[in-house]
Amino acid sequence: MTNLRLTFLAALLLFLGCDAGDRGAPDEQFRMGATPLGVQTIATHLDVLWELVWGPDNHIWFTEQGGTVSRLDPKTGEITHLLTLEVLRDRTSGLLGMAVHPDLKNQPYVFLNYSGEKADKSRFSRVVRYTYKPDTLIDSLVILEYPGWKGHFGARVAIAPDGKLMIATGDGAQFGNAQNTASPNGKILRYNIDGSIPDDNPIPGSPVWAWGFRNPQGLVYVGDKLYSSGHGDAVEDEVNLVNKGGNYGWPHVEGFVNTEKERQFVVDSVIVPPLRSWTPTIAPAGLTYYASDKLPELKGRLLLTTLKGNSIHALELNASGDSIVGDVNYFQQLYGRLRSICVSPDGDVYVGTSNRDWNPNGFADEKDDRILRIYALAEKYVDKQAKNAIVEHKGADVVSRGEALYVNYCASCHKTNGRGVDGTFPPLIRSPVVTGNADSLIHVVLTGKKEMPQFSFIEDKDLAVILTYVRKRFGPQSSPISASAIQAQRADR
Ligand code: HEC
Repeated sequence: MTNLRLTFLAALLLFLGCDAGDRGAPDEQFRMGATPLGVQTIATHLDVLWELVWGPDNHIWFTEQGGTVSRLDPKTGEITHLLTLEVLRDRTSGLLGMAVHPDLKNQPYVFLNYSGEKADKSRFSRVVRYTYKPDTLIDSLVILEYPGWKGHFGARVAIAPDGKLMIATGDGAQFGNAQNTASPNGKILRYNIDGSIPDDNPIPGSPVWAWGFRNPQGLVYVGDKLYSSGHGDAVEDEVNLVNKGGNYGWPHVEGFVNTEKERQFVVDSVIVPPLRSWTPTIAPAGLTYYASDKLPELKGRLLLTTLKGNSIHALELNASGDSIVGDVNYFQQLYGRLRSICVSPDGDVYVGTSNRDWNPNGFADEKDDRILRIYALAEKYVDKQAKNAIVEHKGADVVSRGEALYVNYCASCHKTNGRGVDGTFPPLIRSPVVTGNADSLIHVVLTGKKEMPQFSFIEDKDLAVILTYVRKRFGPQSSPISASAIQAQRADR
């Protein structure tokens, strides 16, 4: 290479380096209203990105479910590994949520929630504070250890604007936990960052801040307001505004009070309703807030990633932040299961995929799991023909009402192709329960069985459509199921 060429190259690099607002050419691009968007993959071959945090050091801190904590330089893509924890990874347990102290210089603390197993095989979850020292995490201090079972591990952690540590825990799939204020499960808990209990908590001497949660999967502060997302059972996934001392109802009230049993419960209990609930369920996960002007369509909205829904919901808050007044769903079914999300101060959105988790949906790409950057695209890259970021799946993969209902209510576990997940969700293809006697099929679906939720909330005529579809598709010899057969079984129960 001649000297002249080298000088030119150096000048070009300098020019690119100086143009801080330019994220470069996108891997893919979209339109979001009037805003051109770029999407880039900035990290690949990761294993279930459970948490993404934009740190005060302008790096992305992330956890992987298998137990690793790392730090990514978003400018260069360089990843520094900080810690590997020995965790119990069984379906939804493992290394889960993380919070990085916003004042990392003076308070060099990182908080982790993970699950483990003791010598006697009993399971636990733990919230631990580590001290960050470049490039490692040292001096672990256990803030809280609480019981774990087989499911509903939650969990997220967050630092409040008043410097307190907030922890969202799952109920462990144990019926009594969420309403029992002596149990740490199914709660939002509040601690000082040294592990002591603040003296202004609602129940003196207790870390409990709010209760009645099933399985929280997202937690974020917007100003001094705390929002959480969580999984319902077969209905009513939720986003909540978490109030001090609030009871959020689980397991007696799912989502809004809309059944007779729930109306009975609230006769003498005060329940805080969710801001929004989703039936069919979407499996909401990571929650963050978008405050920047860069992507005006997202400004003032909570961003919620979904696992089952394979998308990002932009939830518009009203001025006082106590109501959700708009819900736009972006990138549906483009990148698979999305679990974690954070936003940089200059308005780039970072999303972590969860396609290698316990409930795969066929999306896992050789490069998964990945961290994606979604950003305002510089004019020079804009293709006027770019697709809309609101993806319409009209008729694309839904050929009948039966299939649509099956996809909504059943496919998250039994899969669109009916093959289930080995060792976790049984296949419906050629299942004797599907092809056999209509009454036993109706019975399983109305009453549920172990980890299969009950679907008695679905109306007879819709359930008949689903079960007839299931019988035709997965057991081609079997007869249709009528609404009256379902009604007859309900009457018998
Ligand atoms: C949250 C996950 C989940 C969802 C959603 C779900 N199921 Fe299941 N289902 C299961 C599990 C787990 C079992 C096994 C229960 C057991 O025997 O322990 C099961 C069992 C079954 C069986 C019995 C299969 C056999 O061979 O024993 C049928 C039939 C069935 N489900 C149908 C449905 C239908 C129809 C829907 C939608 C309306 C549905 N399921 C939704 C988890 C789910």
